[in-house]
Amino acid sequence: MPDYQAILDEIRDEVQPLLVQGHVADYIPRLACVPREKFGMAVVTLDGQLYQTGDAAEAFSIQSISKVYTLTLALQSIGDKLWQRVGREPSGNAFNSLVQLELENGLPRNPFINAGALVVADVVLATRKDPRAQLLAAIRGCSGNPDIRDDPEVALSEKANGFRNAALANFIRSFGNLEHAIDDILDFYFFQCSLAMSCVDLARGFLFLANQGRCPWSGTNILSTDQAKRINALMLTCGTYDAAGDFAYQVGIPGKSGVGGGIVGVIPNQLAVAVWSPALNAKGNSLAGSAALERFTAKTGLSIF
Ligand code: DON
Repeated sequence: MPDYQAILDEIRDEVQPLLVQGHVADYIPRLACVPREKFGMAVVTLDGQLYQTGDAAEAFSIQSISKVYTLTLALQSIGDKLWQRVGREPSGNAFNSLVQLELENGLPRNPFINAGALVVADVVLATRKDPRAQLLAAIRGCSGNPDIRDDPEVALSEKANGFRNAALANFIRSFGNLEHAIDDILDFYFFQCSLAMSCVDLARGFLFLANQGRCPWSGTNILSTDQAKRINALMLTCGTYDAAGDFAYQVGIPGKSGVGGGIVGVIPNQLAVAVWSPALNAKGNSLAGSAALERFTAKTGLSIF
């Protein structure tokens, strides 16, 4: 077995020069004040062993990583019917792009671009009695941390500046692919993006995807084996947007990023790994985080290929 602790500490030292590169997301003003020097990384193996380095226990804004959890809720509720309303192809465009929607009649390319996540949010609103509470319960349950919360300041900061998401939602609505009031969908979407979790929470919270849909410590079946396989496939092909090809090439595992600087990776039947470094590359993925994951799979010799 690789010496995960030594590898994480080595990676933390190696990425230090990268922490000055890239830009912290500032289109959500509340995120702009997060110190760029932060770096954390955590690994949880299927047998429950936890390894961590740096700021791995500090909570940060998970942003688009939340899309994996809302997709999980939507698949639990309506299964494959979801694919009548959202596609499963990489978009090759930025996460917040509007351009494909007109040509493709309001059917978002995949559930991880913002357009797709808004449709998934609509499904969650339609199928859950108390969507916010149920999303929180699912995330707390998967990660084993009952203290995980949303950050209303981050949500408000995004709402005040969320013109692109409002445009996306209105546009999709014009094609009839959203049912709820635009404000309700956006408020739920900003809520999910504002959830604050640490690398330790995220590594624990994604372990069910490395374990064929079953939470290893509670034994709860969160998704079927088949559904977990398919979410991993979507993370590999679409989880890092128009950098997904490069991420697959460099890192070689399913991954999901967020503009808060987090990225979570899954190595099926082995482990989940989460990294946090706030400054982003041009594609909106953590710059040092992407490099750290590349080093992790290179040093451990683990990948899905
Ligand atoms: O909708 C947005 O723009 C943000 N709440 C989330 C975007 C995001 O995290 C994209 N990930 N790299």
